[in-house]
Amino acid sequence: MKLSRRSLLGGAVVIGAGALVTRSLWYAAGAAIEPQSLRIPELLDARKLANTISLEVQAGNTEFFPGRASKTLGYNGSYLGPTIRVNRGDDVEIAVSNALKEDTTVHWHGLLIPGELDGGPHQLIRPGATWRPRLPIRQPAATLFYHSHADRRTGVQVYSGLAGLFLVTDDEERTLGLPSEYGVDDIPLVLQDRQFEDGLMVLPEGMMARMMGRRGNTTLVNGTPNAFARVPGRLVRLRLVNGSNARIFDLSFDDQRTFHWIASEGGLLEEPIQVRSLTLAPGERAEILVDFSDGRRVALRTGPDTNLPMMMGQLSRARSLATKMFGGGDEVVLQFEPTGHQGPAAVPRRLISRQRVNASQAIRRRRFVLGMGMGGMMGGGMGSGGGMVINGRAFEMDRIDERVSLGDTEIWEISGEMMSHPIHIHGVQFEVLSRNGGKPIARDAGMRDTVLVREPVELLVRFTQPAVKAPFMYHCHILEHEDNGMMGQFVTT
Ligand code: C2O
Ligand code: CU
Ligand code: CU
Repeated sequence: MKLSRRSLLGGAVVIGAGALVTRSLWYAAGAAIEPQSLRIPELLDARKLANTISLEVQAGNTEFFPGRASKTLGYNGSYLGPTIRVNRGDDVEIAVSNALKEDTTVHWHGLLIPGELDGGPHQLIRPGATWRPRLPIRQPAATLFYHSHADRRTGVQVYSGLAGLFLVTDDEERTLGLPSEYGVDDIPLVLQDRQFEDGLMVLPEGMMARMMGRRGNTTLVNGTPNAFARVPGRLVRLRLVNGSNARIFDLSFDDQRTFHWIASEGGLLEEPIQVRSLTLAPGERAEILVDFSDGRRVALRTGPDTNLPMMMGQLSRARSLATKMFGGGDEVVLQFEPTGHQGPAAVPRRLISRQRVNASQAIRRRRFVLGMGMGGMMGGGMGSGGGMVINGRAFEMDRIDERVSLGDTEIWEISGEMMSHPIHIHGVQFEVLSRNGGKPIARDAGMRDTVLVREPVELLVRFTQPAVKAPFMYHCHILEHEDNGMMGQFVTT
């Protein structure tokens, strides 16, 4: 990775005396750099590894910008981790060893497994220790991810690089003939905004970072700033993962082409949905099919973060200044360069059929309000927890908030204060029944584990996984909200 970046930038970087000054100018904006080839995380295919995988959580240095080594964290590397691919029906043993000087955990976000395997804050991995969960894979093909979930340290550890992709595949998916050559026409894209100063990644701190979540002036895709991807001139599948701490992306192509949304967090949709844009909040994933057969270069862009107005008020000047400093505006995410014409490819009309859960089976309703604990940013009331609460209470490791019976179906009604919050529930998949008292919106489609709320949503949740030895979490996936208390835990018995 380092090598290819260096050679790509060969002509552009000033080497030798005076380089420091030049670099400072060069990197002042954080993201001023020539296009770099998109990095593709290494694939660990569990079947080829006898379903035994090793991950080492490690600290390292990463040159996002050539010659500028940022201190970062990663799995089996310096930033992010390998993509783990597993098969439905298998049991996969993962040995996670912690080479950091601090505690960590590894949470399998979206995986339907019992509580003690989930990797939440209770499954601590001490420095020097190894955790060996054996994960039963019993769910349909999907794009999941893994990341740190250390108590109060999730935001810092994820921002520093502790996240990776986790793909489930199965026979049903294989028979559809979707593009599936990893890194070629089936491309993982971990989208993250990070703050760079003078070419070095810095960790935003302070009130703004606490309230709005840690953000950044630079968009990274798989850890690559200003990335471009060479893709075959045909139908290509993109697996989009919002791995930001707080940034909401509003994705579209700069030529306004349509694309096909084929999978939500829980896996394939029943049929592709043709769209021109897709919103992706932190923790959310989507798979899309894009037709590159016209051979034209095109860029994936994002519109401004819909949480920005809260951050800066409605004043457009304040907003554009804030956008320069903290990111969150309109920008290019990734450029595509198709090579070779292969003619337009057919998108399958139908994908999979799902067994629908009937809302009348719900035996209970619970209500949750995600609160920021104050009447406004000026209103004070920011105690030690930063005011982040669910139903008025900040997270506590030794308090179980809800008790659910295994096998039950319930309606969870969730709303958020002050801004939009991506609510995530561990150990389940749910469907959105209603939004703001009406029908769900287009982007609520499919089985999910994370959904953006502000106005109340009703979620139909089935609890199929036991959480007896250790609880499951539900929380806002703006990681600084989670770390500061916007999280609760439940057992399923
Ligand atoms: Cu992706 Cu509880 O987290
Ligand atoms: Cu999770
Ligand atoms: Cu939140």
